[in-house]
This record gives sequence, C-alpha cells and structure tokens, in this order.
Amino acid sequence: MGYRIEIVNLQRVIDCAAGETILGCLQRQGYRLRVGCRNGVCEICEVKLIQGEVVQRYPELILAIDENQPAATVLACTTIPDSDIRVSIEGLRCPGELLVKKLLCDVTAIEKLNHDVYRVRLKMPATASMSAEFYAGQYLDMYLPDGAKASFSIGSPPDSGRDIELHIRHISESELSTAILEHLKKQEAVEIELPKGECYLQAHTIDSDTRLIMAAASTGFAQIKSVIEHLLANQFGNQIHIYWGARVEADMYLEKLPEQWANEHPNIHFEPVVSEPEKSPGWQGRTGLLPDAILEDFSDFDDVEIFTSGSPAMVYALLDACETRGFKEEKMHSDVFSYAPRPKK
Ligand code: FES
Repeated sequence: MGYRIEIVNLQRVIDCAAGETILGCLQRQGYRLRVGCRNGVCEICEVKLIQGEVVQRYPELILAIDENQPAATVLACTTIPDSDIRVSIEGLRCPGELLVKKLLCDVTAIEKLNHDVYRVRLKMPATASMSAEFYAGQYLDMYLPDGAKASFSIGSPPDSGRDIELHIRHISESELSTAILEHLKKQEAVEIELPKGECYLQAHTIDSDTRLIMAAASTGFAQIKSVIEHLLANQFGNQIHIYWGARVEADMYLEKLPEQWANEHPNIHFEPVVSEPEKSPGWQGRTGLLPDAILEDFSDFDDVEIFTSGSPAMVYALLDACETRGFKEEKMHSDVFSYAPRPKK
C-alpha cells in the first residue's frame, strides 16, 4: 500500500508507492531536488518531516511526528514513508520548472547578418552547476558592467548544449543598443540571466493533429528559430507554417535557413513577406502585412496554434485578424501578452 506525501511549502500532494523512498517518488514524478551520494551520507537531500511516520534506512531511524511536535530532519534518498506524511522541502523544483541563473558566458563569435543585425554566439560554462537550462522560445537578460540590461530572445534550441545564439539589431539611436554591441565586440565574456519568459514550446506537449503557425517580425525570427530547431531535433511531424515579415527585403537575414527547412521537410512551409515592396527593388515574394498574408492562406483556425514574436502592434493585429475567423486567443502564444497586456475585450 502506498502513502500520500503532502509537500507543504509547494502546496502539492503526491502519491508514493509502497517501499519507495521520498527521493524516488519525487524523481519519478518529475520533481527535482539536489542530490549527491544517494545513500544517506552527504546529507544534501534533507527534508523537514512535519507530520507522519517514516523509516530512514541510513542512518537507521524510525520516526513518528505528530502535529504538536517540532519538525524533524530526514534524508529523502533513504527515507520511506510508513504513513501519509507532510513535509517541507527547500529548493525542490516542480516538474518542468527551471532554475533562473546569472552566469558568465564566453563570447565566441559576432557576425553581421545584414545592415543592422548581428548574430552573437555565446558559450555557457561547462560545469552543470554553473550553467543553465531553458526551453525553446525563452529569452535571456544581458547585463553590462554598469548594471544596464537588455533582453534578447534565445535563437538556438535547448538541444544545442552549451551554445547560445542571439540576433541583436543595432538601433543606432539607442545608447544601450550601441553599448551592448561595443561591449560584446571588446569583451571575451558577458553576464547573462536565464531562462526568462513564459512563451515557450516543448515538442511533446503539442497534439499530433495540431497545425502550427509561426509568425515573426524582424529579429522576432530568433525566437521562432529556437522553436523550429527544437521541433526538428525532436522529429516533429506536424504541419508548421512559418511567416516572416520585414519592412523591406534588406531587413531580412538568414532567410536561406527557413528556405532550407522547407526544402528538406515536407511538413514545413515558409512565407517571407515584405510590407514596403516599393523600397525593395527586385523582391519577387509576397507583399503586405503578416496578418493579411495569414488570413489569405487559412480559412479556419480550428486545429491551429499560433506562436508569434514581434511588436505589440503586430501581435494584436494578428490576433484580431485571426479572431474574425473563429480563432481563440488562448491558442496564441507570445511574450507580448506578458510585457504589453491590453484590456480584455
Ligand atoms: S543524496 Fe546524499 S544523503 Fe541523500
């Protein structure tokens, strides 16, 4: 017979199988706790037992705590519940929750991709405890020595190990933009904090019959790129429609990459769209605004989820346009909803 473990500080209750240690139970259900020896020696996996009966195999201990007694400390790796128990576990991370960390990364390359966009490559430290994890679609904050910070979408997938790619547009009228690029060009390392943002995608969470629309404007392509490369790394077979909008053709960069995805994967479709074709001599592709292009191609959105990265004006224009065809806001994912919310209609 199994027992229930109430994790008081997280307000969660989980089921523990008969004979299972607290650590085994937590890990089986995706929780993460700092562990070392796993045999009761290093004491890194301490748990506060608030109430209930347990058997700790090493060091040997049988404990029964009732609500009127002070909490006792037990080791998650060697302790087996012998009744329903209530515990408090510091530093325990819920399934899917990643730790936000500040870390120093090597600047490994800076490359100019068009007239004002740079690709910056960073490498996170090799030591796992000094490095960080992220989900495809999340962003990071970059810090300058004077404390100034700027946020950038991560343009590489989490499947790339220690490597991080950023697409940084130089906005000449912005002192911060200039300072960041100067810093990156001169310094061998830069301080970043990640992961940030609730707009991310994990391949296994998408239903197999869902069609994805990925709509990016300008360097919003970085976020889309991270997601697509994550999906490709996980053999994702759903239909993916990429729309990338730029004001003029000269603002595009790396466009050969989505063309290559579309050529190599029959489920991927790529539509670059330019909104000022009169300033793009020689442009042969689609013209107009992204929302209009998407509405031209989709008559219904029943099985569609949209992942979009761009200005608030673009994102809300796209939402409004798709809603005219029955699309529901909860199926659109964008960081804009967090940093520039608009009143509910
Ligand atoms: S991991 Fe070392 S005592 Fe539990």
